[in-house]
Amino acid sequence: MKSSRDYEPLKRLAGVAAVRLVADGMLCGMGTGSTARFFIEEVGRRMRDEGIRITGVPTSFQSRLLCQQQGIPLCDAQDCRRIDLAVDGADEVDPDLNVMKGGGAAHTMEKLVASMASQFVVIVDESKLVPRLGTSIDVPVEIILPALGYVTEVVTRLGGEPRLRMGTNKDGPVVTDNGQLVIDAKFGPDVDLREVDARLHRTPGVLETGLFFDLAAKVLVGVSDGMRVRSMERKA
Ligand code: A5P
Repeated sequence: MKSSRDYEPLKRLAGVAAVRLVADGMLCGMGTGSTARFFIEEVGRRMRDEGIRITGVPTSFQSRLLCQQQGIPLCDAQDCRRIDLAVDGADEVDPDLNVMKGGGAAHTMEKLVASMASQFVVIVDESKLVPRLGTSIDVPVEIILPALGYVTEVVTRLGGEPRLRMGTNKDGPVVTDNGQLVIDAKFGPDVDLREVDARLHRTPGVLETGLFFDLAAKVLVGVSDGMRVRSMERKA
């Protein structure tokens, strides 16, 4: 079985291709994860080599550090009202360009920044294309700590199997950049995830889910057949 690292050349293709959408003077949402890293590095290269100037809005601590390493000026989301372009990776993309995110527990900020953007572009390698969201990853749900028991109960009532995300190289749960917890909720193929998403958004204590319905305008996919980038656009 291939690991995420095996897909790095395809992630790079997608990340570098997205930089063509960046224009001088833009305010850009800077995604999180191993694919977004290639985008951020290429933006940094264009700033140095071609003199373009952009300002980045980071979606996580990781994204902030990478932008700082590249010398990209930053603006925090709370200081902006609109963003020109947001580019981010994803854990899954379905045929209608709906997206699952949050494998890196950054989905709350990522969804905020994607929603603020005039154009949200997703960059993935071909392994992320799935027939249905929830195929390869459970639904990440960021919650405030006191809601752990209640959200666990709500997910179970919705037909899901909730699991508190645990840290690696750390005892105890993953604590997000927001200082909160993540429940990964597994749902069967017959469950309507739009309905689950709507129900979770009405549940006190839930900050955000990793379900990004109807947000991506375009998905750039690095594909191994021809080592090229396939562009998929949302149908109007
Ligand atoms: C972070 O929480 C995630 O949403 C990432 O953007 C997503 O997991 C994609 O990461 P990779 O590009 O590393 O697969």
